[in-house]
Amino acid sequence: MTTPTVSGLPTQRPNPLDPPPEIAALRSADPLVRMTFPDGHFGWLATGHHVVRAVLASPAFSNRVEKMHAVIPMKRDIDPAAFGTLPGMFNRMDGEDHARIRRMLTGQFTVRRMTQLEPRIAQIAEEHLDAIEKMGPPVDLVPTYTLPIPSLVICELLGVPYSYRGRFQQDAAVLLNLESEAEPAMQAWMSLQQLFGELIDRKRADGGDDLLSGLIAQNELSQGELSIIAMILLIAGHETTANMLALGTYTLLQHPSQMAAVIKDPATAVEELLRYLSIIHFGPVRTALEDVEIDGHLIKAGECVAMSVPGANRDPSKFDAPDSLDVTRHAQGHVAFGHGIHQCLGQQLARIEMRIGFAALLRRLPSLALAGEVRFRDNMSIYGVHNLPVTWNHNA
Ligand code: HEM
Repeated sequence: MTTPTVSGLPTQRPNPLDPPPEIAALRSADPLVRMTFPDGHFGWLATGHHVVRAVLASPAFSNRVEKMHAVIPMKRDIDPAAFGTLPGMFNRMDGEDHARIRRMLTGQFTVRRMTQLEPRIAQIAEEHLDAIEKMGPPVDLVPTYTLPIPSLVICELLGVPYSYRGRFQQDAAVLLNLESEAEPAMQAWMSLQQLFGELIDRKRADGGDDLLSGLIAQNELSQGELSIIAMILLIAGHETTANMLALGTYTLLQHPSQMAAVIKDPATAVEELLRYLSIIHFGPVRTALEDVEIDGHLIKAGECVAMSVPGANRDPSKFDAPDSLDVTRHAQGHVAFGHGIHQCLGQQLARIEMRIGFAALLRRLPSLALAGEVRFRDNMSIYGVHNLPVTWNHNA
């Protein structure tokens, strides 16, 4: 039997809450198909749950930048291979290089630190809801709630002092907006690098109880590595959580009968929303370091495999009625946070933010309803919404 071939990753979503319909069709034809990448590279697309996990768990694949072919055309016209994997960019390293830095970071993402952050996250959510109530409807929840929560939480985690936060949030917003032109994006990158450099100097002198101070105290990472690590945490933990909060809220507004269950058991609901929404919808991508057989196909050294997280998380061989949202189901085993050695480092923190973020919003504004057109992030590496205009009965 010949392997099906697809030209580019399907991206069009007739229904904004479902993956492109081609994904399900490809998965039932073969959970691992051949795919042409935008630069002409002839690689693979994995849509089946077992295949995605097998590739992500295999040491035969690399995550290094210089080995990668982009799965969507690069908007900013920057060839990632030109700068490669920078020192400290552990999320794009393999083997022992990755493990060395990941170990140091895991030691900082402690249950104690996460538990300590919890009341602060609740406070941040409530303060933003106070401001929203004061503004009165209609309000766009993206700039007022779903973006500032993860942004301020990263500040708390890294120990960014209040005096730096305005600059930090401004630069982060420019850098993280994939629609920004190359020039301002590069300026924001430089400005954040400078800010983290200053911050690291201050913390080296004064110490502290935050994650950056903890890493500095280990005395094993250079200044350059430390500021890249800080940038990675900022980028990885910001838009992801923000879009889960915003798209998750939109989804619940489409399924109002499930809102009470979210308030009752937000932990279970968050896992199902992660599975159902699968916001990392372009990638991850891995490159074979050697010839390797996966699910009966020979992947040759140098070939890239693009993973479809939505494909895996809607795979009927893993989840019953995968296209239905059921916030009371146990969605364990989803790959919304990836799998294998690069599995999301911030997942416990993200879960806390989402549990608090959804429950606080729905409790405070039980009559929440959409109040305008929503624009979806179709062509961005993290799926979600650009805006979320809402209204509520403020006399209730
Ligand atoms: C890795 C998703 C929130 C930090 C990943 C990966 C996924 C993911 C799919 C694996 C990428 C790969 O295999 O190449 C998400 C989602 C989030 C979220 C859906 C929110 C709902 C966060 C937060 C932080 C964070 C809050 C930190 C504060 C990281 C880091 C990595 C990572 C550092 C790289 C880990 C490594 O390579 O060892 N995330 N993430 N993420 N995430 Fe998250």
